[in-house]
Amino acid sequence: MSLLRIAPAEEIGLGEVKAVQVKFGANPEVIGDAMEQGATGTGAIVVAHTADGAWYAIGDVCSHGPVLLSEGEFEGCTLECWGHGSRFSLETGVPENLPAKAPVPTYPIAIEGGLVFVEIGETADDHA
Ligand code: FES
Repeated sequence: MSLLRIAPAEEIGLGEVKAVQVKFGANPEVIGDAMEQGATGTGAIVVAHTADGAWYAIGDVCSHGPVLLSEGEFEGCTLECWGHGSRFSLETGVPENLPAKAPVPTYPIAIEGGLVFVEIGETADDHA
């Protein structure tokens, strides 16, 4: 596991998200904005800062189709996919309603020195 710097915390206000494309591996790095269908060995991650100040990071691509959850509605502790309306828990990555059935990955998050970090495994499969 590696701590990957995402952004200064002040850049992600209350009720806002930041979505990035990450290259997994021994030395993970942010390689740009999130993509619905990125290259092998990469994955989209969305960092969400809830209205009440909590931080979460989950996989940004809906488990039902190539849609970025970061482009959907952010309400409470969920992100809603604009594709077909499944609402994903930021705490567990589990969809709370159909049609999506499978969870998206969740990632431990840390705020240190005013910066947002996400704990990344060597592959996207390293995450629950
Ligand atoms: S693409 Fe997300 S619910 Fe269908």
